[in-house]
Amino acid sequence: MNYENILVTTQENIATVTINRPTKLNALNVATISDLNKAFKLLSKNTDIRAIILTGSGEKAFVAGADISEFANFSIEQGSQLAAEGQEKLFDFIENLKTPVIAAVNGFALGGGLELAMSCHFRVASANAKMGLPEVSLGVIPGYGGTQRLPQLVGKGRAMEMIMTAGMVTADEAYRIGLVNHVVSEDELIEFCTNIANKIIKNSPYAIGKAIKAVNANFKEGKNGFETEIKSFGKCFGTEDFKEGTTAFLEKRKAVFTGK
Ligand code: COA
Repeated sequence: MNYENILVTTQENIATVTINRPTKLNALNVATISDLNKAFKLLSKNTDIRAIILTGSGEKAFVAGADISEFANFSIEQGSQLAAEGQEKLFDFIENLKTPVIAAVNGFALGGGLELAMSCHFRVASANAKMGLPEVSLGVIPGYGGTQRLPQLVGKGRAMEMIMTAGMVTADEAYRIGLVNHVVSEDELIEFCTNIANKIIKNSPYAIGKAIKAVNANFKEGKNGFETEIKSFGKCFGTEDFKEGTTAFLEKRKAVFTGK
């Protein structure tokens, strides 16, 4: 199957999905989310595929976030819908897939990009990778599960600091706080992930699917947090801060926030 915004290759029992909008640093627009949903659905139904590697094309970015140009003029309702649909089609969908998904974080993973990496079952970063949730610098909050999955991975205090400062962590720092499992050179990233995938595919796919379900079940009580995130994300779309934050990004200037 051919997709507009992603590339899918398979080698023996391992598939690699590459988000392919390098001139936009692989920003996630609605069409890309739809392509990813279709590809992951097809791959999960293919019993020959026992592991999936997700990465970004180019040397600079895994994914630099949701596509800001697409949602800058959204209303509160459209904002909530964007978050809810994204969760359903991509982020929750990947997290609950029976087939293991490894994020090969090959550069910037920001906002929706880090949220996408965090939806994968685990992450490997290249040494040049930088990760963060910069949404509050745009007048909005993480809306694709970031307020839930980041504290699960790095603890509440570190997550609070990363979200509030809108700052980025380096690959080494991400490793230190448990956000990524390994850091390797850019050249070795895919090979390293393939080696891990090769270990995974020797094991029982049935048992792995059930293990994923069991590990995820531990966090299901936090499910309501996703609803709160979606509602709060939507509310941000009705503020002057959101208009200022997104307009400033698109006009390539610094935002001046008033809290209104
Ligand atoms: N949405 C839409 N477009 C994006 C984008 C995003 N999240 N991230 C990058 N792009 C686009 C830029 O607008 C630019 O497009 P242009 O060449 O048509 O002007 C192109 O990708 C290259 O990005 P640029 O900003 O020029 O690269 P840089 O090396 O100077 O900076 C980043 C890299 C990642 C620091 C910067 O792109 C950035 O801050 N991106 C937004 C991150 C963000 O806030 N994500 C959360 C969204 S919720």
